[in-house]
Amino acid sequence: MTRKRILVVGGTGYLGQHLLQAYSGLPDSPYDLAFTYRSNLPRDLLDAFPGSLAFHVDLQTGGGLDAVSQAFGQPDVVVNCAALSVPRACEADPAATMSINVPSTLLEWLSAFKEANTLLIHLSTDQVYEGVKSFYKEDDETIPVNVYGKSKVAAEQFISKNWSNFAILRSSIIFGPQTISPVPKSLPIQWIDGVLSRGDKAEFFHDEFRCPVYVKDVVTIIQALTSRWISDGERMQLLLNVGGPDRVSRAQMAETVAHIRGYSTSLIKLVSASSVDRGVRSPADISMDITRLVQTLRISPTPFKEGVRLTLEAEGSG
Ligand SMILES: NC(=O)c1ccc[n+]([C@@H]2O[C@H](COP(=O)([O-])OP(=O)(O)OC[C@H]3O[C@@H](n4cnc5c(N)ncnc54)[C@H](OP(=O)(O)O)[C@@H]3O)[C@@H](O)[C@H]2O)c1
Repeated sequence: MTRKRILVVGGTGYLGQHLLQAYSGLPDSPYDLAFTYRSNLPRDLLDAFPGSLAFHVDLQTGGGLDAVSQAFGQPDVVVNCAALSVPRACEADPAATMSINVPSTLLEWLSAFKEANTLLIHLSTDQVYEGVKSFYKEDDETIPVNVYGKSKVAAEQFISKNWSNFAILRSSIIFGPQTISPVPKSLPIQWIDGVLSRGDKAEFFHDEFRCPVYVKDVVTIIQALTSRWISDGERMQLLLNVGGPDRVSRAQMAETVAHIRGYSTSLIKLVSASSVDRGVRSPADISMDITRLVQTLRISPTPFKEGVRLTLEAEGSG
């Protein structure tokens, strides 16, 4: 079998690094791997993935994609993890957010290959939903309440209109171990652990609900989609909610960390999300129904408590 090419766009980010780690760890891997970065290329990443190629690419302009064509060729699969992914930063610069999060330069580049059949696996978000009920399904109306969510809805629409082989993954909060080269943003479980381990009292929302998903499950989902395309060659147009099996509030997330670590739950002060100005609107309940994910890929995501245990185990004793 000829070797297949996988390009991870945004390979230096949280999910991107976990994906690269999983793909490069496959024994007798049938894949050639490449990834892109935007700000800088950490030395430890190059050392960790010596067989992969790294390219500087800016999705805002498309700069750098030609170099990928020349040195790597047309990918069989592109996993697009690149984004402005911090809602408050998106709110501050809507124009930049749209131009990065809607992958127009990426699809223009892919369209130029003679056989335009690359599978695009694109990361979207649960923040496409308004947040006024529980367990959203993929067919529910998308009513984003902030710029980040709006840019992701625009991206979904752009892909559906302009590409014929894609899987769009509406991911909830992704949690799990730190990456090989630590990412600049704070990770949810590690942040809670840090606060509670110092014995600091902290406020947590009791009325904001998510279905956090363990990072290794997201990787497994992406690998399953990749294998499906490579083995049967049938184009797909898939839209999947990607969440864990549990609907939890921010306060319940903190309580789970406290129980596993043995911290006092009296440190967790329950407050309403409406009592804090975060500089960006945040949907209240965007818990998701993941039936389609489970039935389509026959994957059962890790329960939240188990994922937190694995995450904390990987971080050590705290
Ligand atoms: N993490 C979560 O909890 C979560 C939840 C739901 C959905 N998602 C979505 O999942 C995807 C991956 O998330 P993540 O947490 O891994 O994101 P992340 O850690 O913020 O990584 C973002 C990546 O995008 C790259 N990037 C930023 N601006 C770019 C530009 N102009 N051109 C090209 N690349 C650019 C960054 O490159 P540099 O590092 O080199 O700057 C980095 O590799 C995103 O689409 C995000 O919206 C994430």
